[in-house]
Amino acid sequence: MTRVGQSNKPLYGKRILVCGKGGSGKSTVVALMATILQRKAYEVMVLDGDASNPEGLIRLLFGLGVEGEPKPLIEFFGGIDVVTCPVDDPSPLTRINDSAPVPEHRIDLFREIAAEYYLQKGSTTLLQAGKIETYGQGCDGPLEKVVRDFMVEGDAVNVIDMKAGIEHFGRTIPDRMDVILGVLDYTLESVSIAKRIAEFCQEAGIQDFWLILNKIGSEEVESLLMDKLGNLQGKVIGSISYDQELIKVGLSGNALGGCKALEEVAHIVERLEQVVSFQ
Ligand SMILES: Nc1ncnc2c1ncn2[C@@H]1O[C@H](COP(=O)(O)OP(=O)(O)O)[C@@H](O)[C@H]1O
Ligand SMILES: [Mg+2]
Repeated sequence: MTRVGQSNKPLYGKRILVCGKGGSGKSTVVALMATILQRKAYEVMVLDGDASNPEGLIRLLFGLGVEGEPKPLIEFFGGIDVVTCPVDDPSPLTRINDSAPVPEHRIDLFREIAAEYYLQKGSTTLLQAGKIETYGQGCDGPLEKVVRDFMVEGDAVNVIDMKAGIEHFGRTIPDRMDVILGVLDYTLESVSIAKRIAEFCQEAGIQDFWLILNKIGSEEVESLLMDKLGNLQGKVIGSISYDQELIKVGLSGNALGGCKALEEVAHIVERLEQVVSFQ
C-alpha cells in the first residue's frame, strides 16, 4: 500500500464518524466520500459500524456480485460474548489473549489482521464491526465498542458509517473521533437529530462537527431546511441534490459510480479539508 504524499493531506489519520437519521443517506455519503478521497490519493479505511443493515454499505462500494463479506471485526476481539458494552462495563477493548487496551496499541492492519477481515478496491479498504446475526443475540453495544476503539496505525483517513439515530452518543462512541458529520434529509426529524448531535458534540468537546444536507430537490427546500437549522446554519459544509441516479443504482445493487452527487461530495470533501482542525 503506497502512502505517497499522505502527510500533505489535511484529513490523513482522521477518524470521521458519519451519523444521522435512518435513511438520510449516511451510507451513500460514506461511499461517495470514499470514492472522492481515493480520487484525491488518500488511503481510505471505511468501517461499516451499522449492525442493523446486513449489506448496505458493501453493495454501494463493491456491488452485489462481491464474493463474501469480510469477517466481522468483533470476532478478532473474541466475539460478542467477550466484548462488553462501552457503558455497562467500561473495560477496554482488548485482543484475544492480550490485556493491553487496543486504543493504546494501534493495530497495523495489513500485518496483524488476516485478509479475511477486509475487502479492498484500489486504495479503499472496507471492514465491518459486526452485524446482528441471530434472533435474541442481545445488545449491540459490543459492536459499538469496536467502532469506538478499533484504531489502526498509519495515515489512512477513516470513514465510519454509523447506525441511525443517536444511541451511540449515549455510549460515548464519538470520544475517539476527530470529525462528526451529520447527514440530514429534508425532514424536521433530521433537524431535531442534528440539534441533539450538536449539543452532544459540545458536551464532548468535539469541535469538528459539520452537517451535510442531502436529497435537496430545490432551492426552496434548501432554504426551508436552513431556516429550521437556525444557529446551526454555519455548521453546514455542503448539500447534495436529490439524485434519481443514486436510487436506481442503489436498487440495482451496483456499486456507486459517477453521478451529479459525486461531484457535490467532491466539494464537500474540499470544504472539509479546509475546515478540520489541525492537531
Ligand atoms: N442525494 C440523494 N438523492 C436521492 N436519493 C438518495 C440520496 N441519498 C441517498 N438516497 C437514497 O436514500 C435511500 C437511503 O440511503 P442510505 O444511504 O442507505 O441511508 P442511511 O445509510 O442513512 O440509512 C437509498 O435508497 C438511497 O439511494
Ligand atoms: Mg446506512
